[in-house]
Amino acid sequence: MSHAEDNSSSSGSRRDFLFYATGGVGAVAVGAGVWPLINQMNPSADVQAASTLRVDVSGVPVGTQLTVLFLGKPVFIRHRNGEEIAAAQEVDMADLVDDNARNPNAGADADAADSNRSLTAFNGENTGEWLVMQGVCTHLGCVPLGDGAGDFGGWFCPCHGSHYDTSGRIRRGPAPENLPVPPAVFVDETTILLG
Ligand code: FES
Repeated sequence: MSHAEDNSSSSGSRRDFLFYATGGVGAVAVGAGVWPLINQMNPSADVQAASTLRVDVSGVPVGTQLTVLFLGKPVFIRHRNGEEIAAAQEVDMADLVDDNARNPNAGADADAADSNRSLTAFNGENTGEWLVMQGVCTHLGCVPLGDGAGDFGGWFCPCHGSHYDTSGRIRRGPAPENLPVPPAVFVDETTILLG
């Protein structure tokens, strides 16, 4: 079964913008090739023009990440495990470089607490399980490596050495802002609507 489809098609003909990365060191090496892989699968112009994207996350195991292409940019959909969630939640806000959530779903003034960055489930609870972010480094736009990369267990941008934590918040390096969260909402128990 596919995991992403544009909202204008039910035929399943354009459902191939997905990439799974598994945990562990090997995934970092795999991650380095993610962008070229996705880039080769650039959607047709009409799909790029679509302002929303429905993503089926029912097949995304805990501790892994699904990357979809949305409006021409990679979006990381991370199904975080308990360790990742705990690590993100216990960070002292005073230690953050950027204290804004960068999440339009939470409001422009929301602070960067993990609860303001993770996605609320369909039942209205936010357990921190799901984190959705644009996979574009806020320094100069490279695609960060995931699956525990970097000194803070989240993502690492190899271009100039920016480290993001398990909430996608910038912690060290030249990037000035947290990885931005796109407009996103669960529209049923296993489907996220982007845009
Ligand atoms: S583009 Fe990511 S650190 Fe420069």
